[in-house]
Amino acid sequence: MRKMPTPPTIPTATVRPILDMNAYDGQVSAKANQGNDLLMRRTRNVGAASVLFYRDPIEMVAASGCWMTASDGTNYLDFYNNVPSVGHCHPKVVSAMADQAARLNINSRYLHQTTETYLDRLKATFPDHLENVVLTCSGSEANDLALRIAQRGTGARGIIVTECAYHGNTATVTDISPSAFKRGELPDHVVCVPAPSKLAYGDDVAGGFADAIVKAIAVLSDRGHGIAALIVDSIFSSDGVFSNPRGFLRLAVAVVHRAGGLFIADEVQPGFGRAGDAFWGFLRHDVTPDIVSMGKPMGNGFPMAGIAVRPELLAAFCEDVGYFNTFAASPVAAATGLAVLDVIRDENLLANAMICGKYLREGLQHLADIDGRISDIRGAGLFLGVDLSPNGAPGDASGQLVGDVINAMRRHRVLIGAAGKYGQTLKIRPPLCLRQSEVDFFIEALGKSLRECG
Ligand SMILES: Cc1ncc(COP(=O)(O)O)c(C=O)c1O
Repeated sequence: MRKMPTPPTIPTATVRPILDMNAYDGQVSAKANQGNDLLMRRTRNVGAASVLFYRDPIEMVAASGCWMTASDGTNYLDFYNNVPSVGHCHPKVVSAMADQAARLNINSRYLHQTTETYLDRLKATFPDHLENVVLTCSGSEANDLALRIAQRGTGARGIIVTECAYHGNTATVTDISPSAFKRGELPDHVVCVPAPSKLAYGDDVAGGFADAIVKAIAVLSDRGHGIAALIVDSIFSSDGVFSNPRGFLRLAVAVVHRAGGLFIADEVQPGFGRAGDAFWGFLRHDVTPDIVSMGKPMGNGFPMAGIAVRPELLAAFCEDVGYFNTFAASPVAAATGLAVLDVIRDENLLANAMICGKYLREGLQHLADIDGRISDIRGAGLFLGVDLSPNGAPGDASGQLVGDVINAMRRHRVLIGAAGKYGQTLKIRPPLCLRQSEVDFFIEALGKSLRECG
């Protein structure tokens, strides 16, 4: 077989690729995992595209609420997973999905009561001007569609994203996901700016971020692309979780709108109540998106995603190509999504995110008071970012301590992830049905892990 040539390496900034964080690395850990037949089969089957969590990957067999059970019987507390957001295998969601699957499941080119009931309920969560909702099966597809609509609607091509953004895996969307790049550079029509953090912009985060957007628009104009859209994950999860002060996006969005561009709020991470004080992350900033994309928690594990969009933008796009997605908006997707909305309402999960989120922050603050390596605690509701740095100064460029702590936490039966430019941030994102006793379990495990990684 002909050997593929290796393209020249042109490093993008020094952003750590998102899929490398807390990943199994066959080069480093294969020996330690010798005899793990399942791992060998996985590696053989999926090849270079296999991405697994942990230096020693875990085989999972069951889950319920905030807990996952491994094949050796160990129960792990899930503090990472934003997908089963109302709780793993929630009985109401599972039975809505199974009942509908047993009755009828077809594509969306037939009329179906449950589908329209779901879309009505979903739409009611958005501002009135976002009159149309179009479902897809993944956040990547949703963002792909959003970008194409924005480029058609504005007649411009340029897109502004944040430095460590991840917006998905299609060709169009990989182009605007700096944290997906292992080598190479962003295409000419994409410009990135640092996420709205104090470290990047000082005390005036809103003003600094808006200034960076002004400069990015000028670059896109010089390059002849114009500005089609600013797209941000409205809680900046892969950038390291930046949520406060509320309202810091307002100035930047106004700048984009004045320049004729659109604002796309990517709600794949903060959507469906995770921040506790609002159903959508953009509502915390009092901004008016032209398009909202959503996904992950939408089906609590069933592959559902979509966009909410101004109807005139969608109409212009559909003059050219139209849009159809075989599996999206099926009766099973609608029944599942409806059950998720019911559970969020009936179990007061936004209020729980606020209450448990506050309790969690207090626990983290207590640890920070005794361990100076916790250099910052950020976030809203049940989406927190905690920076760890060996010398206590924010912005540690190695991420080594976070990697060690994540693996120590696993030994103490807690699953947690990393984020940030260098992987220096612990990403804390448990299901919204979290209980205070589970927060206590987490804090105790983090305290022990930090001591062990001294
Ligand atoms: C902010 C954001 N947008 C979009 C996506 C892509 O979603 P999906 O993996 O469902 O395609 C992700 C996935 O992690 C994400 O974090």
